[in-house]
Amino acid sequence: MGINDSANDNLTDDTTGQPSLRQSWENEMTHRIEVCPREQAHEQRPTKVIYQVYPSSFADNNGDGIGDIKGIASKLDYIKSLNVDAQWTSPFYPSAPGPEGDGGYAVDNYKDIDPKFGTLEDFKELLKQSHDKELLQYIDFVMCHSSSRHEWFVESKSGKDNPKSDWFVWHDGGVDENGNHIPPNNWKSVFGGDAWAFDDTREQWYLHHFLASQPSLNLNNPKVIDALIDEMRHWTELLADPQHTGNSADGVDGFRLDALPFANHDSEFRNNPWIAGEWPFVAEEWWNQRFEYSMCQDETIEVVAKLRAFLDSYDRHREALGEVIAGPEGGRDSIPVASSYVENDTGLNYCYTNALMGSEGYPNANDMRGTISYIEENFPDGGNCNTVSNHDFKRAWTRWVETLQDNVQDKAYRQLLTLYATIPGSLCIYQGDELGLPQAKLYEDIPEDSFKDPVFFSQGAEASRDGCRTPMPWKHDEKNAGFTTSDDPYLPIPDSHYDLAVDIQDSDPHSTLNFTRQMLEWRASQPALIQGHTIVVENNSNVLAFIRRSKEQTLLCLYNLSDQDQSFTPSKYLGDTLLAEIGVAKDEIIPIQAYGMAMKGQTPSKELSFLLPPDNETRKASNQPKAA
Ligand code: GLC
Ligand code: CA
Repeated sequence: MGINDSANDNLTDDTTGQPSLRQSWENEMTHRIEVCPREQAHEQRPTKVIYQVYPSSFADNNGDGIGDIKGIASKLDYIKSLNVDAQWTSPFYPSAPGPEGDGGYAVDNYKDIDPKFGTLEDFKELLKQSHDKELLQYIDFVMCHSSSRHEWFVESKSGKDNPKSDWFVWHDGGVDENGNHIPPNNWKSVFGGDAWAFDDTREQWYLHHFLASQPSLNLNNPKVIDALIDEMRHWTELLADPQHTGNSADGVDGFRLDALPFANHDSEFRNNPWIAGEWPFVAEEWWNQRFEYSMCQDETIEVVAKLRAFLDSYDRHREALGEVIAGPEGGRDSIPVASSYVENDTGLNYCYTNALMGSEGYPNANDMRGTISYIEENFPDGGNCNTVSNHDFKRAWTRWVETLQDNVQDKAYRQLLTLYATIPGSLCIYQGDELGLPQAKLYEDIPEDSFKDPVFFSQGAEASRDGCRTPMPWKHDEKNAGFTTSDDPYLPIPDSHYDLAVDIQDSDPHSTLNFTRQMLEWRASQPALIQGHTIVVENNSNVLAFIRRSKEQTLLCLYNLSDQDQSFTPSKYLGDTLLAEIGVAKDEIIPIQAYGMAMKGQTPSKELSFLLPPDNETRKASNQPKAA
């Protein structure tokens, strides 16, 4: 099926292509959506847009092949030009260079910068410049584990009675019939194998939810939480001068909290139940356990409350964004867990979940309706954050549109970017999402001797995250696309990324980059997207329809998630108040092109005119007739 241009003359109304379904729905439709007066509309906490930088591959300033802090500073105007509120930088702390460093997520020292990225002075400079440009800076705080090289762990493993002996999670384990040590229980590591490693010095097992080089900090111990807060204070007060210490101190604006559901564990170390099968007939994998005891513990809500109290102790607003992509059912469904971490007075500002992360393929309207309703139910006061992609998942372009025909991919990608920016929640965009970069292919784009991600070594090529961590292409006609002058870039730049480089897209008003900029500028001007609640229209068609409503604005968002032109008749679903608020007449039928979108009720200051196909002529020209 291709796009049928003539379908405009013959609009199919709210079709699923299954008339019987439509008729049964229409028969059931007795009520249109009625609402309270808009002054009483429920508002949620304000949302933000966050741009994620992966420091190794963003911009290399000193030509050693690795991105650095000065490189980031040189691109602040670029980041700001995307119309984002904040920047989150993945870890830049001292960390082992090889796979055991987990790309910086195994932290040797929370208070410093890895020399390969620069110095604390470089970071202070970056922070000051960001503040001058009104760009918030969040740093990545890996609080659930340190690295095995961190001095806390070195001390903790030195014996059973040192002052930090209980700062990590130690256990004697058992002994089998042959006298071999066996792990304390059945907890598994996300990266494969047991979540326990035996330490010969201390002659005990220690817990690690990821690599053995990432020992779990014991957050059941209040002293450890206090110590971590001290490390955070180093950053929140980094710019403090002697006259402005304490509450009024200046420093980073917030933290992205790594792997939050892994913070606490059952102090009795009970076995997790298996989801499918009984011992010994089970797939002994992390994803097959219900994490009743190893993670997702209620104590984490108290940890979060302490962090919030710390952030609130400052006069100037400081924030935290939790990473909550692993729920209790073998990692699935993290939404209820995340929502428990964002309670109004004691929770974090927001969390990103696995609701949409990593979703494969162009979405289906019914699934989307379900997901949006589920998000809204679980975050009635806000606090959700949607993620286009990040350093752990396949790039959005490849996941969302690669299976579609070439001539609609660009349109569909822009549609989905806008969709993610209009559903309830804040938004995280990962470097390169704004360019529509496809995932780099292992072996083809990245030779095996350059592989970096430890997950490749435990779980193979499909699981490797290197394909989304290749350097940003800045200039199409320069060596390494302008990322570095070195012959040895952090990872190679795929050939296909040169034509998508920033310089080319910058000068093309119809590029994905300029689309992203305009779309985010538009988002920022729509109060209903900043704090409105959401009403999903249950129209049972390929047109995804929902209302965002705040005290100031009502916005109807329509997405045609199909390859056929469609239409939507608001008066079939929306009561008179809503119709009046969005300025739509009773007999109005809204046509929406295949992979297109439409908005009604925009604030007049910024019309979303750029959402029309970037350039109808181009689109028609490339849309050669195809077999229907
Ligand atoms: C988070 C990070 C990921 C890292 C893991 C362990 O999920 O995003 O990159 O490997 O935590 O720290
Ligand atoms: Ca460098």
